[in-house]
Amino acid sequence: MKSINTIRFSGRDVLPLIEGGKGVSVSTGISAGHWAAAGGIGTISAVNADSYDQEGNLIAQVYHGRTRRDKQEELIRYAIDGGIAQARIAHEIAGGRGRIHANFMWEMGAAEQVITGILEGAPGLIQGLTCGAGMPYRLSEIAARFGVHYYPIVSSARAFNALWRRSYSRTAELLGGVVYEDPWRAGGHNGLSNTEDPLKPEQPYHRVVELRKVMNRYGLDHVPIIMAGGVWHLEEWSDWLDNPDIGLIAFQFGTRPLLTQESPIPLAWKKRLMTLKKGDVFLNRFSPTGFYSSAVNNSFLQELRERSERQVAYRRSEEDEFNVSHHVGVRRRQVFLRGEDQQRVLQWEQAGFSEALRTPDETLIFVTPEQARQILKDQASCMGCLSQCRFSNWSQKGPTYTTGQPADPRSFCIQKTLQEISHVGEVDEAEGERIVDHNLIFGGTSAWRFREDPFYANGYVPTVKELVDRIMIGK
Ligand SMILES: Cc1cc2nc3c(=O)[nH]c(=O)nc-3n(C[C@H](O)[C@H](O)[C@H](O)COP(=O)(O)O)c2cc1C
Ligand code: SF4
Repeated sequence: MKSINTIRFSGRDVLPLIEGGKGVSVSTGISAGHWAAAGGIGTISAVNADSYDQEGNLIAQVYHGRTRRDKQEELIRYAIDGGIAQARIAHEIAGGRGRIHANFMWEMGAAEQVITGILEGAPGLIQGLTCGAGMPYRLSEIAARFGVHYYPIVSSARAFNALWRRSYSRTAELLGGVVYEDPWRAGGHNGLSNTEDPLKPEQPYHRVVELRKVMNRYGLDHVPIIMAGGVWHLEEWSDWLDNPDIGLIAFQFGTRPLLTQESPIPLAWKKRLMTLKKGDVFLNRFSPTGFYSSAVNNSFLQELRERSERQVAYRRSEEDEFNVSHHVGVRRRQVFLRGEDQQRVLQWEQAGFSEALRTPDETLIFVTPEQARQILKDQASCMGCLSQCRFSNWSQKGPTYTTGQPADPRSFCIQKTLQEISHVGEVDEAEGERIVDHNLIFGGTSAWRFREDPFYANGYVPTVKELVDRIMIGK
């Protein structure tokens, strides 16, 4: 195993090991602080982070506003307070070691306002900003305003090229690194383009070499690339070290740090990680952001998949092969189906999936009355956590504040489920398992390795320091 040397990041030489940002409340001040204390870079998630009252009690994020816009205002306040609180915690734990970065999502609601509010409220505590999910052209300007480094997250050389040419070239001196996030392997949302096949993963090596070529063409030889997605044992990456085609390289971990003592995720989630097999984590396209994402196959994903399977095309009036009249739902609305589809619909209705919900694609999905009530309730409770949302049709752009598309019941409220799973609280084991099974569990496709890696034998959960030390020896 080649030696792993420090690299200068955000103004300091640190271990080239990074805990990737994970929302909601998965990479926190505690996890990031410990990662920095171990000599690397800890990343707090600035996506609706938790804040606390004077006594240190968690402030529940409750919404009182009547409109979605009012609620979004409340959400922005919670998010800013939460980001500041987590930055302070991380700073205190890090005790001056390592670096603390903040991660946010470009397509989150009021992204710029939230990150600006956090940087204003936590001056000097955050040294770098990482941002992906979308094309964060303005990231460099925000970083420049606060004199911090910035780290765009991209999944191709082409994306970086576009960002550089349009805006980053004007703030080259603060570009701290470029995160290459493998769109087939990394946990969370993924940057697969329309031409890339989710079922045909490409190897990261040649894609990162391409990225390096583009960066070097712009005189960015001294800027590190941060490899994220599918990184487990560094000994498997030794041909990436001291390799002129790759250049300066650091490694970001998202999935491995989930299973540490300091990781704030519920115990049931940690236990689930230890049981995963190959294929249990896969890419799906249910997210209300419209991006692909990588998550654990559980009841939550199965329910979404089944919703989409119980789907037929329809028309409001008779048209071509849509010539079979059918009445759906309690209000018995008339729709026209293809003859062959009516049989399927009758079977679903008999099985209790008697409510038909419209999608933006002129299709109906069939769900139980209880599921329908929940979907409509979740849509109505929307507090605008995204810049635009496929599930509720919220858009933060006026004058209508909607996407102009019908809400899509094949998706879900990501805010609700990520908040639920990261705030399980004091519950018994069975309830913990139920909550974890019925909510979205983001994870990288290498998560099955927990079960096979001897480091975790007999359910061993390391501290962050132990994990970082282990990674440093190549394991
Ligand atoms: C639970 C979870 C949540 C994540 N949330 C975010 C996020 O909010 N923003 C982001 O940029 N990346 C997010 N990621 C991606 C990680 O920061 C990291 O880049 C990725 O997980 C690395 O790949 P790995 O999972 O194979 O280690 C998340 C990953 C996981 C596992
Ligand atoms: S419905 Fe969409 S925008 Fe609204 S809170 Fe949920 S995920 Fe966020």
